Amino acid sequence: MTHARQQQRIQVVAHRGASEDAPEHTLAAYRKAIEDGADALECDVRLTADGHLVCVHDRRVNRTSNGRGAVSQLELADLAALDFGSWKTRAAREAWNTRDEEPDWEVRPEDRDATSVLTLERLLELVADAGRRVELAIETKHPTRWAGQVEERLLVLLKRYGLDAPVTGEASPVRVMSFSARSLHRVRAASPTLPTVYLMQFVSPRLRDGRLPAGVRIAGPSMRIVRSHPAYVERLKKAGHEVHVWTVNEPEDVDLCVRLGVDAIITNRPRAVLDRLGR
Ligand code: G3P
Ligand code: CA
Repeated sequence: MTHARQQQRIQVVAHRGASEDAPEHTLAAYRKAIEDGADALECDVRLTADGHLVCVHDRRVNRTSNGRGAVSQLELADLAALDFGSWKTRAAREAWNTRDEEPDWEVRPEDRDATSVLTLERLLELVADAGRRVELAIETKHPTRWAGQVEERLLVLLKRYGLDAPVTGEASPVRVMSFSARSLHRVRAASPTLPTVYLMQFVSPRLRDGRLPAGVRIAGPSMRIVRSHPAYVERLKKAGHEVHVWTVNEPEDVDLCVRLGVDAIITNRPRAVLDRLGR
């Protein structure tokens, strides 16, 4: 199997944006990741009660906003009224409260408007206006609850931006990731050339030989898997798969990924990883 990425350098993917420095899944975090030089942006998508795809990791908004409730029970207008930024400043302050110094970062005033809920459509616009190639790794969250609607809406949106049907053999600017093989199957059934990534928190016995669910060509093992079973990465590579590892924040983990020849590193700290890679 030959794919453009196999001849390329390791791709650095900003996990939920530059989410160590700025509140995850906000424009502020994604702008920072682009400024930092990330090759790609990772985001999780969920459907609101009125059918919009928004970038939110958790089922509920409680951790990352000043509101409460499940994304699936809230409408976009409800989410738009919430602040998805100040929790990060609070968390930073709390972490620093145990020391004598002041935290050296806060949500910058110019980013205040950039900490409301982020729709996937707005993220696609940001990427389109980035002024350089920035890829997107979109993860479908809770795809079983909506019986195909997440993937359906996603593909409609990608089609609007001309991103749903990349040319075979060319590196696609978008890929869809999921822990659910069924979700990836739905994506491939509707859009066979769109690359899919099978995320793994553990390696199921039937996939230990390096196979992936039918039609999937990219493996997404956790850093924990890679640390404890480096030989598994070799097996995946030998089977012809790309390997995209999450979430790689520590320098020694970056070094291990380099040694193993992984194709993409998904990290909360894109600038630090790029520095480690000498870029
Ligand atoms: O990039 C894959 C990774 O994001 C999967 O885990 O929980 O951070 O969405 P999670
Ligand atoms: Ca994710």
